[in-house]
Amino acid sequence: MTLVSETSWAHLDINEVPDIKVAPPGPKSRAMHDRCTKYFKGLSGQVKLFPVVFDYGKGCELVDIDGNRYIDFSSGIYVTTLGHCHPKISQAVATHAHRLMNCHDFTTEIKTRLVEKLAEVLPGDLTGFQFYDSGTTAVEAGLRVMRAASNGKQEMVSCFYDYHGKTYGGVSLGHVRSHVYGPTRAPGFHMVPRPDTYRPMWTKSDGSIDTDKYIEFYAQYLDKATVHNVAGFVLEPIQGWGGSVMPPDDFFPKLRAFCDENDLLLMADEVLTSWARTGKWLCMEHWDVVPDIVSIGKGFGNGFPVTCVAVREPYKESFESISASSSYGGNPMACAAALASIEVIEEENLLERSTRLGELAMKRMAKMKEEHAIVGDVRAKGCLMGIELVKDKSTKEPFDEAGKRVYQKAFAKGLAWIPAGHILRMSPPVVMEDEVLLKGLDMIDEAIGETEKELC
Ligand SMILES: Cc1ncc(COP(=O)(O)O)c(C=O)c1O
Repeated sequence: MTLVSETSWAHLDINEVPDIKVAPPGPKSRAMHDRCTKYFKGLSGQVKLFPVVFDYGKGCELVDIDGNRYIDFSSGIYVTTLGHCHPKISQAVATHAHRLMNCHDFTTEIKTRLVEKLAEVLPGDLTGFQFYDSGTTAVEAGLRVMRAASNGKQEMVSCFYDYHGKTYGGVSLGHVRSHVYGPTRAPGFHMVPRPDTYRPMWTKSDGSIDTDKYIEFYAQYLDKATVHNVAGFVLEPIQGWGGSVMPPDDFFPKLRAFCDENDLLLMADEVLTSWARTGKWLCMEHWDVVPDIVSIGKGFGNGFPVTCVAVREPYKESFESISASSSYGGNPMACAAALASIEVIEEENLLERSTRLGELAMKRMAKMKEEHAIVGDVRAKGCLMGIELVKDKSTKEPFDEAGKRVYQKAFAKGLAWIPAGHILRMSPPVVMEDEVLLKGLDMIDEAIGETEKELC
């Protein structure tokens, strides 16, 4: 594969970046962080493990207030998929910030152009839309429209290790941490296992994962464990927070058929996986599956807080009963950011670019798997990537301490990215040049090697 080095607005010279002038977090970062955290509480593990203070970003580069320059391997948090401060998107937001910031859910020209464009790029008959201001509120709207579209059915089925946000409904679809979320999930929410090819629960005689067994289990579960009032399934196409866990290719087609046979709706929570992140508009397109309801977020506005719920044609009218009214959903700045993001993806061929970067990463990571005893599994679809670290390749025991050290070591070398226990998660912007991606992966490789020396 020949490397592609584009002289686009996001060009990065790997001889100049990363550039660590003072060991991060440097003195200015530490002082600012101390001032802020006197009042601002509850930081994520990402920040606690590496409390640098960022000053600005451009494309695939982040710069902290001590002057250190980093390659961005996290896109904020899977958000700035098209790079930090894309000129076209920043300009679109600025234009509408000077023109009309908010007019409730009145029709505007920019919203009209956005919905027309969405109907054009989304697969199948996903032609009904509402807009929200976070992934969680889009998921909640998805649940409401699911109930409306199923004539008021209440029960929902989701999957182990999926993440769907932090409101009561979102939390009830995911892993409940009782000390903060309350003693239990909301009534009517059920969870079932989903296939993970690296850690299969059911296998065939040849050792490969048996997706039919999962579907058979769902049939049993619906019959025995619900009150037969199930509206449908809600799943992430690929588990983001769960650790870039990819399903086997036959899973979603089988689940789609199962839902159709049993009069169940299928909602895909594509907050993290959509908008070029995996090389498609929707990740579900990889398996030719059109969900009935989709939540879209993060990269949808490339950093501007705008999200979307889309439904298939037969369920459009169900939106009438849940109302599109919200304080910020679909405001002109938000619509402008979302429309500009779609145009950028088209103009810069970023679906193809994301796919190519994923293929390049897979090759590089496969080498890491061969060479390192602690690399158990590697995976990538477009710019959604993961490396699973284990204490032993045969027992597959998770190696959390190694995950933490690799994260910190690579960060110290100038790679801004996301920690996640024993699974290293990477989500670089899709405008990244080949050699920048490979440089970042080299830094991870080096950090794995150093960690292995310390711990094994
Ligand atoms: C699949 C999925 N759904 C929902 C959410 C919640 O989105 P937000 O943090 O924008 O509310 C997230 C956030 O990470 C997510 O990954």
